[in-house]
Amino acid sequence: MITAVVGLQFGDEGKGKIVDFLSEMHQVVVKFNGGRNAGHTVVTQAGTFKFHLIPSGSLRAKEVILANGMTIDPIFLMEEIKNAKAANPAIVVRVSRLAHVVTELHTFLDKCEEEARGEFKIGTTAKGIGPTYEDKYARTGVRMDDLGNPDILKAKLQLIIKMKGTLLHGSKYEDQAEVDRIVRELHEAGKAVSEYLCDTEIMINSHFSEGMSILFEGSHGTMLDVDFGMYPYVTSSNTISGTLSVSSGFSFRKVGKVIGVVKTYMSRVGEGPFPTELHGPKADTLREIGHEYGTTTGRPRRVGWLDLQLLKYAVMINDVDSLALTSLDTLGQLDQIRVATGYYRDGERIEGIIRKNDDLKGLEVRYAEFSPWGKLSDEDIMKIVENGIEAMPPSMKEFVRTIESATGRSAGFISLGNRREKTLVLDPALKSGA
Ligand code: IMO
Ligand code: MG
Repeated sequence: MITAVVGLQFGDEGKGKIVDFLSEMHQVVVKFNGGRNAGHTVVTQAGTFKFHLIPSGSLRAKEVILANGMTIDPIFLMEEIKNAKAANPAIVVRVSRLAHVVTELHTFLDKCEEEARGEFKIGTTAKGIGPTYEDKYARTGVRMDDLGNPDILKAKLQLIIKMKGTLLHGSKYEDQAEVDRIVRELHEAGKAVSEYLCDTEIMINSHFSEGMSILFEGSHGTMLDVDFGMYPYVTSSNTISGTLSVSSGFSFRKVGKVIGVVKTYMSRVGEGPFPTELHGPKADTLREIGHEYGTTTGRPRRVGWLDLQLLKYAVMINDVDSLALTSLDTLGQLDQIRVATGYYRDGERIEGIIRKNDDLKGLEVRYAEFSPWGKLSDEDIMKIVENGIEAMPPSMKEFVRTIESATGRSAGFISLGNRREKTLVLDPALKSGA
């Protein structure tokens, strides 16, 4: 079984919970994009686990692979490996030699770039991700494979400073950009990381040949994709399902199923268009009930209604087979439940998605209303988990059917709470693990 899981909105859709669930029926979990900007939370009986670089699947999988498309801070990686091993001592971790290294210099540059952008600021996570991908494509980047050689590290960092020094010059980070110290720390971390480095593209393909089941865990969300998202308010990598091929060296033709994770309301961190955004007390209530604060930065997330027009686009671009709907338990507690059904301008329906702030002007978003199903008791939730959609309150069932008919895809998973057991699994292949 080869499965890919991707977010269909702005990130934070609840991928962590779905991947944790699926990792029981997959032997290997591969993370192929992003870096410390991603953040995933998994709640188990043993506690709440927050991961950034390490896949959410690491609590249950036998092996996790951090593939070439990722950007990795090796110092932070060693901390996360330690935490993952504490939770799952038998876990095997493999890291691509080709993945790019995020250095402290890149985090300084990220902050300097945001300052330079002024009114065009993106609201990045300030973890150095953008500048690291910039260097990758500028062909000046540092790769994991370089960590063992301090001379190469020094030469590369000096080259980056030569090319981007004007940004640092005069900034408060200029004095902290001490190349010798940064090289020393990276080289130290490199010694610890070296035992995990390998040619992950060869490893993934040989695991496939041996018949192992592999789960590809996407980071971020479709609307943060550098090509198809709301550019420039996006991350610096591709995030859609097709990314997994270039970012891990595994052919997309072998992927059996793409699962798209959909939060049944929406959230977004940072700047950029959000056609169904809520403001004022309604937004505050939703943010509080849904604990919508960034896993990586702690920033309050912007929140709004589920947008079916945006969702249809995301389903198409990711070639989604099955939906995983999350946070229905949170949504039900609001005193009003809405879903955006389409965009209109001057009374005329418009197709496609809104990408630019300018396109929000004069935009009318039309909604469907659902009566709130309230806060479900644990007992009600377990009844739904055991008996399926028919055991749902009528308006909740209608809500799920509306999403399915708008996207033409059925819900394979419905998450009704943070805990693993509060998951209704409708996809028969995933029920049995076949
Ligand atoms: P997960 O994996 C939510 C957003 C940032 C910012 C923009 C660019 O947890 O779903 P960057 O630091 O990547 O250059 O910032 O992208 N962003 C995310 N928002 N969840 C994420 O990942 C995100 N990764 C990046 O807030 O607006
Ligand atoms: Mg996040």
